[in-house]
Amino acid sequence: MNPFKYGQIVMDVDFCPRPELEKSLKEHIISGQNVLIEGERRIGKSSLIIKTASEIKKFRTVYIDINQIKTVNDLISRITNSLVSLEKQSGFFEKVVKTVSHLRPSVSIDSFTGNPSISFNANETMPPGNIENLLDFIYREHLNRKNIVIFDEFQDILNIKDYESIIALLRSRIQFHSDMPYIFSGSVRKDMDRIFYDLDSPFFKSAIKLDIGLLGRDNFEKYIKDKFLSGKRTINDIIINEIFTKTIENPGDVQELCNALWSITEYNTVLKPADVDNALKVIFAREKEFYEHTISLLTSNQLRCLTAIADLGGKTIQSGSFLKYTGITHASSVKKAVTRLVNLKILFNYKKEYQFNSPFFKTWLIHKRL
Ligand SMILES: Nc1ncnc2c1ncn2[C@@H]1O[C@H](COP(=O)(O)OP(=O)(O)O)[C@@H](O)[C@H]1O
Ligand SMILES: [Mg+2]
Repeated sequence: MNPFKYGQIVMDVDFCPRPELEKSLKEHIISGQNVLIEGERRIGKSSLIIKTASEIKKFRTVYIDINQIKTVNDLISRITNSLVSLEKQSGFFEKVVKTVSHLRPSVSIDSFTGNPSISFNANETMPPGNIENLLDFIYREHLNRKNIVIFDEFQDILNIKDYESIIALLRSRIQFHSDMPYIFSGSVRKDMDRIFYDLDSPFFKSAIKLDIGLLGRDNFEKYIKDKFLSGKRTINDIIINEIFTKTIENPGDVQELCNALWSITEYNTVLKPADVDNALKVIFAREKEFYEHTISLLTSNQLRCLTAIADLGGKTIQSGSFLKYTGITHASSVKKAVTRLVNLKILFNYKKEYQFNSPFFKTWLIHKRL
């Protein structure tokens, strides 16, 4: 079986250790400290949090992923469903249902896993006060058995129309739950910083920040080598470097490339540099339709800017040479196009540099024109 996993939370043998981060996160959790976790997509935030939390024996993990929520209803539904799946102990499920009973929930059982889930009438707008009730419920339960509450992709709270009042409401409850650790994780730094560092935000400086960067290189190299060796494939440092260059060391992308590399190589082989290029082709073949669809939705200015960033990098998008390369006259038009590319999550901006969210898409775009 292919030992490289991507696009999912990794645990146990699939988790490459990050001892320092695991240690500090563990310490914060145990001391009841709220933590803000920031890092790019696929850098390993969710895996780190879930893995670390699950190892702290006395605590239960209330994992609430609010990725792409749009409304208060969505938020209530996500919190309720994460509670429903929390505890098998008899009576707990009933208590959760009771907390939301006035919202007339429907309970269904997944025929495959046997797990219950709860849905609400989508046409009724639920009062935000239910969020308070649910958080207070979690806190009351915490007094019996300790909880760690994780809000993943927390910046998506900003998608809610009236998000200011919702953020204020969350904060007003959370501050009373001082010994129950909350973890807020997010991939969009600009939005997370707005929530946690804007002076007038209710969350201002309410959590200790942990920045998640790349995996430690030595640990990651050993992890990759051992996985390949488990299938009798030998990989040398030159090839590992090649993989790291092609993926800018992003753990999710490294795993995806290694997964493809594994799939095109045999037992008892020594991997060659050409195998890496062929593995990239496998990824391009899988993603081609999506990439083509993505660029078909762009305006000509957006595509020119994207191409220019692929070729020149994204540090100086308003310079004369960048304008010349794109053939766009006004720097303001470039800014507008690039902002749209960020909103479409094709690019992200970090430390004043625009970068591709997917290094594979960038490489594909360059290759396509060669
Ligand atoms: N500690 C790790 N060890 C090995 N692979 C990892 C690790 N963390 C992340 N990954 C890789 O990155 C992918 C995305 O991880 P995830 O935790 O979902 O990232 P994020 O929450 O930052 O988007 C995983 O599916 C896996 O391929
Ligand atoms: Mg995640």
